[in-house]
Amino acid sequence: MVKNKVKLNDSVSLIYDGLMQEVDYSEWSSYIIDISKEYVNWDAGVLELAAGTCKIANKISKFYHNLIVTDLSFSMLTRNKSNLNKVCCDMTRLPFDQKFDLIYSTFDSVNYLLNKRKLLNLFYEVKRILHANGIFTFDVSLEKNSLDFEKSFNSEGNYDGYSFYRKSRYNKKNRIHINIFKITDKNGNIITDVHKQKIFKFDTYFDLIDKAGMYVVECLETFTFNNGSENSERVQFIVKLNKKRC
Ligand SMILES: C[S@@+](CC[C@H](N)C(=O)[O-])C[C@H]1O[C@@H](n2cnc3c(N)ncnc32)[C@H](O)[C@@H]1O
Repeated sequence: MVKNKVKLNDSVSLIYDGLMQEVDYSEWSSYIIDISKEYVNWDAGVLELAAGTCKIANKISKFYHNLIVTDLSFSMLTRNKSNLNKVCCDMTRLPFDQKFDLIYSTFDSVNYLLNKRKLLNLFYEVKRILHANGIFTFDVSLEKNSLDFEKSFNSEGNYDGYSFYRKSRYNKKNRIHINIFKITDKNGNIITDVHKQKIFKFDTYFDLIDKAGMYVVECLETFTFNNGSENSERVQFIVKLNKKRC
């Protein structure tokens, strides 16, 4: 019997590592370390937001030993079998009182916040738990990425006993990029998982970071140290707290 369940959350965790097979997480982790070591020491308290199956954390934890990884999805976090410190939580409502020297997030995770209120909540939360000299670094996907690669994001494959198909569509009007995953298990059961991402305007990030009481130290073309712009596909923000006046 073929069932067709619609779930709007995290069934994609079943095939996530297969879907990301081509992604060079080693290089991506090195890039995060190269950025952060300019600002924080090796004994920094580090927090990863939206860590997924902890591909980056596996590597970062070799460099920064004091690391906590978080994600909204329990199933994503538990696909990873290592003994990292994991906390399942929403990046817009962080359950921490302690402060961190380095907070980071990778691979368009911030684009999962679908409106400005949620994005601002993220920045307020980061501001609350970031040390005065700490940094928050994260990447976001911009409209050029959605327009250039919408069709080539369609993909299919097999992983861990499942076959999957991903269809990608971008709605220019509401700036929502949708990825629809159809995941079929070995008995023919089909799960549909819909992922929506908001492609905010470039300036929105600067406006809301400023509103939250922080500032953009650098905005780079992701994977490089060149300046990013509204025409970049993906940019990497490095953010700090505003200095308190005496
Ligand atoms: C594209 S994946 C990236 C995962 C990981 N950072 C990586 O590089 O592979 C996006 C992740 O964001 C998580 N996520 C989405 N909304 C979230 C939220 N509000 N708070 C925390 N995590 C969230 C999802 O569960 C998913 O694991």
